[in-house]
Amino acid sequence: MFKNTEDNHQLTNKLDPNNIPAHVAIIMDGNGRWAQKRHLPRIAGHKRGMETVKTITKVASDMGVKVLTLYAFSTENWKRPHDEVSYLMGLPVKFFNDFIPDLIKNNVQVRVMGLIDQLPAQTQKAVNDAIKDTEDCTGMVLNFALNYGSRLDITMAVQSIGRQVASGTLDPEKIDDQTISDHLMTGFLGQLADPDLLIRTSGEERISNFLLWQIAYSELVFTDVLWPDFDRVVFEEMMLEYQRRDRRFGGIKTSK
Ligand code: IPE
Ligand code: IPE
Ligand code: MG
Repeated sequence: MFKNTEDNHQLTNKLDPNNIPAHVAIIMDGNGRWAQKRHLPRIAGHKRGMETVKTITKVASDMGVKVLTLYAFSTENWKRPHDEVSYLMGLPVKFFNDFIPDLIKNNVQVRVMGLIDQLPAQTQKAVNDAIKDTEDCTGMVLNFALNYGSRLDITMAVQSIGRQVASGTLDPEKIDDQTISDHLMTGFLGQLADPDLLIRTSGEERISNFLLWQIAYSELVFTDVLWPDFDRVVFEEMMLEYQRRDRRFGGIKTSK
């Protein structure tokens, strides 16, 4: 658990540039509680959380992260009150409106995974425009999970594999880990599809239907910090924690 209270602005210098996680995934949680603590409506937390996304995108890209996957809206988040859902659906419009020039300047490519067709028309347009506007960027991939659920992801992959088997283009005996990875919504990331580091903010220590297949060997790091308070210092502390881990993938300890 990390708190952003220490004076450790020199942390970047402590990070090993040769051991930066290539794919970082974040469950951005705690916007509502951040607002409640201030006697503000929950949407004030989402608004502030959007600013954190801008900060962390820039920090991650500067550090050399290759893929940053952000859980922005789950398939279960439709259960929330209508006003909150509509505010959340408007956020990508605001976010890309403000931030596309910076993303292009930083050579960041936007991608989105989830059931985009179910989003309101304006949100779909914002998302599709952002993907198009940044398609020539060759730096970090900023991958939003929007109306995403991992069980949905796996179900759709199984359906797609099933169709190939039924049509005779895929031999069931040939289905392996790679076949499944390729059919998931992270398949476009190729060798980078699985996160090296998964972060969740706000003190909750659960996965909430995020990347269930892909995190088989991810390092999980949690912080009590609420997403709107998350910043460079906390992020760097979590990266340092990642660098202290010994990833064995079922093998034996390597000498460090
Ligand atoms: C995360 O913050 C943002 C979304 C899930 C969209 P929450 O809105 O879940 O904030 P808490 O968990 O209620 O504090
Ligand atoms: C997970 O957060 C989804 C996102 C961050 C988009 P939730 O706040 O929806 O998860 P639970 O309900 O606490 O598990
Ligand atoms: Mg939450």
